Amino acid sequence: MKIAILGFGTVGSGVAEVLDTNKALITQRAGEEIEVKYVLDLRDFPGQKIQEKIVHDYDVIADDPEIKVVVEVMGGVEPANTFVKRALLAGKSVVTSNKALVAKCGADLLKTAREKKVNFLFEASVGGGIPILRALGVSLTADEIEEITGILNGTTNYMMTKMFYEGADYRTVLKEAQQNGYAEADPTADVEGYDACRKIAILASIISGKQVDFEDIYTEGITKVTSEDMKYAKAMGMTIKLLAKCIYRDGKISAGVAPCLLPAEHPLYSVNDVFNAVFVRGNMLGDAMFYGSGAGKLPTASAVVSDVIAAVKNPDKDIMNFWSEEKQPLVAWKDTKKRFLVRVKGDWPEKDGEVRKVFGGDVVFVETEERLGECGFVTPVMTEEAYQEKAETFDGILHMIRIEED
Ligand code: HSE
Repeated sequence: MKIAILGFGTVGSGVAEVLDTNKALITQRAGEEIEVKYVLDLRDFPGQKIQEKIVHDYDVIADDPEIKVVVEVMGGVEPANTFVKRALLAGKSVVTSNKALVAKCGADLLKTAREKKVNFLFEASVGGGIPILRALGVSLTADEIEEITGILNGTTNYMMTKMFYEGADYRTVLKEAQQNGYAEADPTADVEGYDACRKIAILASIISGKQVDFEDIYTEGITKVTSEDMKYAKAMGMTIKLLAKCIYRDGKISAGVAPCLLPAEHPLYSVNDVFNAVFVRGNMLGDAMFYGSGAGKLPTASAVVSDVIAAVKNPDKDIMNFWSEEKQPLVAWKDTKKRFLVRVKGDWPEKDGEVRKVFGGDVVFVETEERLGECGFVTPVMTEEAYQEKAETFDGILHMIRIEED
């Protein structure tokens, strides 16, 4: 079986390494040897073994009937989409780790794969090495999945962990995450939550079977989370995580990405460093959680290669095709309900009356270890819209963080 890899960056070189390191067992499991015939990249790699496979022209790959599987690990929507579509139309299966591509064009590419009776597989696009898509698509098909809550971005989880446990500063931990190869080329996608948003859009599309547009998902990143917020979290027996969540109820999806306070009893509380985890609630299964390396060269490449093996073993049959182009209705974010931790300027008890007047008599003030020249309180459960209306009338709000209840 001859394959081509599009992009020899972190993941692409990882795919070559996985195929090389585990060659014997991969051959046994695939039922035939998998050989990389071409690697498409703009660069040359003089002196490296891979150089003899490097091509700069995609036509060479698309027009070669020997290539049965194309691995797209370039990232970004274009030209990845054009290349992938062309491969599928040429009757080649495609494996990708590219969440931007899958979130934007997944339904269309799956349709093409269906028509051409080939596979379009994208396990590595969500949760890196964690086999969550195959679990949803193969193992949990008897269930209606009612909720998915995930820590889906390794970079930000690494940062939140360091900030929580070590009191580390935001810039330093971001730099460390980049040096470790976790962050996207432009870390904005990680820290602003765009990466997690695309991943939850893919998961929401899979559990509903319809297109959930990532543009419709409320997304807030971690850039405003501070060490003060972490002190409040500690005082409340909680931590702060960037959570990507979707709830599927009565045919509707509600979805959002935001930093949230998470109680110590929650299964996601102990998911630290670069690890990702996906908490799943099925109407028959109950609760399950999938945990593992959500980013990094070899974990991601492991998921890519397992998809290649699946594609090799399943010619003429698309094994993960359950997501149509029909648009999935979403619950408006403004109507979703939760409690909010609000930090305001000024000390308690001076602020007590003013706070209760606006946010209600049953707010609960949080006692932190240090006096910070500010105070924080937890609101009763209310809608996002109700919170925003109240917050607009209150002077001196420093920050607000939502509380994950379950
Ligand atoms: N930048 C991503 C992360 C890589 O940190 O999780 C995996 O998608």
